[in-house]
Amino acid sequence: MCGIVGYVGFRAARVVLFNALKRMEYRGYDSVGMAVLKDDVIQLSKRRGYVDSLHVDFEGTVGIAHTRWATHGKPDDRNAHPFTDCRGDFAIVHNGIIENYSALRKMLAGAGHEFVSDTDSEVIAHLLEEHYDGDFKDAFFKMVSELRGSFAIVAVHRGERRIMGAKNESPLVVGIGDHENFVASDIPAFLDYTNRVISLSDGEICEITEDRVKVYDFDGHPVAKKVQFIDWSVEDAERGGFEHFMLKEIYEQPRALEETLHNLQSREVKLPGRTEKISFVACGTSYHASLFGKYMVERYLGIPAETHYGSEYRYRDKVRENPLVVLITQSGETADTLASARIARRRNFRTIAITNVLGSSITNYVDAVFFTSAGPEIGVAATKTFTTQMIALHYLILETALAWRRISRTVYDRSMAALRDVPHMVDRVLEIDDRIMGLAQKLAKKHDMYYIARGMSYPVALEGALKMKEISYLHAEAYPAGELKHGPLALIDEDVPVIAVVLKDKTYEKMLSNLREVSARGAYVIAISTEEEVGDYADSLLILPESIPETGVYPATVLLQLLAYHTARVLGREIDKPKNLAKSVTVE
Ligand code: F6R
Repeated sequence: MCGIVGYVGFRAARVVLFNALKRMEYRGYDSVGMAVLKDDVIQLSKRRGYVDSLHVDFEGTVGIAHTRWATHGKPDDRNAHPFTDCRGDFAIVHNGIIENYSALRKMLAGAGHEFVSDTDSEVIAHLLEEHYDGDFKDAFFKMVSELRGSFAIVAVHRGERRIMGAKNESPLVVGIGDHENFVASDIPAFLDYTNRVISLSDGEICEITEDRVKVYDFDGHPVAKKVQFIDWSVEDAERGGFEHFMLKEIYEQPRALEETLHNLQSREVKLPGRTEKISFVACGTSYHASLFGKYMVERYLGIPAETHYGSEYRYRDKVRENPLVVLITQSGETADTLASARIARRRNFRTIAITNVLGSSITNYVDAVFFTSAGPEIGVAATKTFTTQMIALHYLILETALAWRRISRTVYDRSMAALRDVPHMVDRVLEIDDRIMGLAQKLAKKHDMYYIARGMSYPVALEGALKMKEISYLHAEAYPAGELKHGPLALIDEDVPVIAVVLKDKTYEKMLSNLREVSARGAYVIAISTEEEVGDYADSLLILPESIPETGVYPATVLLQLLAYHTARVLGREIDKPKNLAKSVTVE
C-alpha cells in the first residue's frame, strides 16, 4: 500500500527520504517519487519502478516522498506522486482514496486548473492552490475540509520550512527528533533517526517544522498528544542474517509467542461477562486466526461464535443480535476491518480489537484492545503475527472460561501449562527444516494441491494453503476433509498432492479414512501429525512434538509456513514482496 514520508531538519532531505522509502518498500508499491525544497523551488522526481531507480541529487533539507500502489490510474510516471499544483507552488503525497475526487476535479477544471494525471490524489494539490491566500496552513485546513474518503496527506509549500499533514482512516505517524522532525505512514520509515513517536488519530492535522510539532483537529482546535517511545531497534526491522524477512519471522515465532503470552499475563484479560455471542471480523490470515478463535470459544465458553470477512461484514444487513464483536488485524490499518469496526459501533455492539501495532487506527475504533507482541513484520506474508493472534485468542478464551466458571481450575491449569509449552514446541519443529526442503522440491513441480483438515486444524490448513499460494504462486486450496467427497475429490489424482493436518482429536479416525480416499485416487500425501501411525496412511509424515490437539495447531502452522517458504524459494519467487500483494491493505 502507498507509503508517505516527510522530513524537515538539518540533514540532506534526499538521503533521509530515500532511506525512509527503502524501509517502507515492504508495504508493496509500483511507483516512487520525491520532492525536495531548495530555496524557492520545488525539485521533483517521480517514476514507475522501485526506490533504487530513483536517482536524485537534490539539495535541500525539507522534502516529501512516496511509494505508490496504484488504485486510480495505472502505474506509470504520470500517476506517480508527489503532485504539484498548476504553478508548482505546492507538492503533496497521499495514501488512501478521495471518494469525491471526480466532483472536485470537475469543479477545479471548471476553475481553470490543469490536471496531468488520472489519480484522485492530484485534486489535493489543486485545492491547495485554489484556497491559498498567503497562508499555507489556512489553505491546508480548507483543502482538507473539502475531502471525503480515506487519506493520509503530507504537503509542502515552496519557500517554507514547514510540512502539513492530515490523517483520516489511513495511517500517519510523526517522529520527533532534535532540530528535525519526520512524518510517515509507519514507524520503521524514520526509526534510523528517532524512536520518539506521536500517533495521529483520524481527523487530525499536524504542522511540523524542525523545532516544533503541533496537532489540531480538523476544526483547528489544538490537540495535546503523548510522545511514545518505541523499543524496536532498526535491526529488529532488518533481516538479521536470514535470506528473507519471511524466514527470519518464521524463526522469531518462539520468542514472539512467549512475549505475547508474557505481556498478556501482565494485565487482567477476559471477555465481558454479558457476552452471549461473539462475531469475529477480520481479513486474510487474520480471518483464519478468527476461525481458530471460533472453535475455541465454542469449546471453552459454550456460546455461539461466527466469523466474518471484513469486506462482507461492512455491508451486512442489520439483524436482531447483540454480539461482542472481536476485530483481528495485525496492522490495525486494514480498511475493511476498520469499516467493520465503525459499523459495529454504529450498531451499539461492544467491540474488542486484537492487533500488533500500538497506536494503529483500529485502537481508536474499539472499546478495548489486546496487543500481540510479534514485533515488526516486514515480509508481506503474515507468519508470526498469525501465531501470536492465535495464542492471544487462546489465552483470552481460557482466562474468560475460568472467570465465567465454564472450566474447572484443574482444566485451566492443565490448558495453561500446555499453552506455555507452545514456544518450545515451535522451536522443535524449526529443527526439521531440512526435511521440509526435500518435500518443497516435490511440490514445486506441481501446479495444484489440496490442504485438508477437520475441526480446529481446519484454520491451519486454510492458512497453509494461503501461504503457499501467495508466495509460491501455485494453486493451493484448503478443504474440510469431510467435504472432499462433495466435489473436489473429482480433481484428485497423481498430479495433485494432498497435505493433511491430522491431530489426535475426535475427528482423528475420520481423517485417516480421508487419507485413504485421496491415496486411492493416486495423490501424493504429506501428513502432519503427532501420531507415528499416520505414516501408514501417507507418503510422507512430518511428525509434530507430542501435544494436545489445541496446541498441536501451532507447530503444524509453522511447518506449513516453512513448506510454503521453501517451495517458493525453489521456484525463485520474490518471497518478501509477492506480486500484486501489499503488507497493509489500507484501501477497500
Ligand atoms: C496474508 C496476509 C493478509 C493479511 C490481511 C489482513 O499473508 O498477510 O492476508 O492477513 O491483509 O491484514 P491485517 O491483519 O493487517 O488486517
